[in-house]
Amino acid sequence: MSREYVKPKPGGVIEVDVDGLSVKGHGTASCGEYRVTIRGTVPGDTVVARLRKVRHRRREAEARVVDRTDASLERQEAACNHFGLCGGCLWQDLTYDDQILLKERVVWEAVQPADDVEIGQTLRAPSPLQYRNKMEFSFGTGETGLVEIGLHPAGQFGRIFDLGLCELVHPVASEMVEDIRVFANERGLSVYDLKQHLGLLRFLTVRYAAQTGEVMVILTTSEEPFPLVEDLATRLVEKHPDLASVVHTINRAKAQVAYGDESRVVCGKPAINDRLEPFMFEISPASFFQPNTFQAERMFERVVDLADLSGGETCLDAYCGTGGISLFLSQMAARVVGVEVSEDAIRDAVGNSARNGVENCQFISGPAEDLLGQLRDQGDRFDVAVTDPPRAGMHHRALRALIDLRPERIIYVSCNPAALATDAAALTAHGYRMEYLQLVDMLPQTPHCEVLVRFCLG
Ligand SMILES: C[S@@+](CC[C@H](N)C(=O)[O-])C[C@H]1O[C@@H](n2cnc3c(N)ncnc32)[C@H](O)[C@@H]1O
Repeated sequence: MSREYVKPKPGGVIEVDVDGLSVKGHGTASCGEYRVTIRGTVPGDTVVARLRKVRHRRREAEARVVDRTDASLERQEAACNHFGLCGGCLWQDLTYDDQILLKERVVWEAVQPADDVEIGQTLRAPSPLQYRNKMEFSFGTGETGLVEIGLHPAGQFGRIFDLGLCELVHPVASEMVEDIRVFANERGLSVYDLKQHLGLLRFLTVRYAAQTGEVMVILTTSEEPFPLVEDLATRLVEKHPDLASVVHTINRAKAQVAYGDESRVVCGKPAINDRLEPFMFEISPASFFQPNTFQAERMFERVVDLADLSGGETCLDAYCGTGGISLFLSQMAARVVGVEVSEDAIRDAVGNSARNGVENCQFISGPAEDLLGQLRDQGDRFDVAVTDPPRAGMHHRALRALIDLRPERIIYVSCNPAALATDAAALTAHGYRMEYLQLVDMLPQTPHCEVLVRFCLG
């Protein structure tokens, strides 16, 4: 449809045809010379939208849907009452089949795999709801002055909405939210105020071990005294027999970080256990653990398949977290070296190896950008390297050292297709060939996905 546009300005209303998809899963459309990103739209939609932000120099704008005049995909009723407001799930009103197609499109557009790259079938999640094993909730104060616990509305990190039921997590997480909110209001506990830096309650994190059913509650507060934490823990344990651990952590910093610098186990164990067949993992409060237990197990199995090991290989597991991929590789490799910046995670990785009787894994703690260079400089050699960096992708020094280490095969596990594309270009420029690509849907209802890519030398 041809339309005439005046220069966009905030508050202005436009009608556009959505024809692109950003890496964050938002639809994009042209408005004259400007590219407009519109949350909640997908390619093929025609929408009337109100402009919010306009960046004239970059010829970019953001807009919110006012009316969808033509929808390209079937919309369904979202499972969650908070859909639309909550910043967590963008695609709950789309069928699961369409979500997968959109994720594939995001990855293809970002990575642009060559025609000779083999594409594996996307690993769909067995359960598109109630799959998350961890959720961080924030405390807030409602208009009536009562304590609220919830999640952030889309794009508004200074605000929260009071949560009823979150459909992404096991129901026990929403029950904890409710019980802790009731306790906080009964006992008149205060909420930390971001501007004044006063008040007590900051975050509530609930971890749920999907295979063992163990639950961990982590309460993050300011440094104000919290003598009632014992009463709160006692009440929660009485009500929830599967509550295996209550941890209180103090964040003295202004930064909104859900794990503090001083922690204490209020009751139960310091860590919970979960199983990724055939291994049992201990998960401490601050350690990274893949958020979808069932998909993590399948993804780690695929990593081992792609590593194509015959038993004599030495493997590197860069960004190893609590050692999940290392343990899976250890079944088929002679030796595995895991590298990870978090000392807590390394402690868990060492413990996880011992607990599972694994003797061929070694774990080193420190930044990959330093440690991979040290491994290279001391002449270590790896047949296969797995790299699973955080969203930003690999630090350029870590990537350089990995290239210098010259493993025959590199399995890149990515949670950000844009960062993957950048790192893939560097690997390709230094003699690696992208051979295989497969998506793993770790986080249904959201645009996030994991991508497995195998690079080979030559
Ligand atoms: C996506 S997670 C992967 C963890 C692990 N492979 C797993 O599947 O459980 C990324 C990990 O990188 C770690 N990390 C972040 N920055 C790092 C750095 N500069 N050097 C080493 N590890 C880092 C994080 O602590 C986190 O455990």
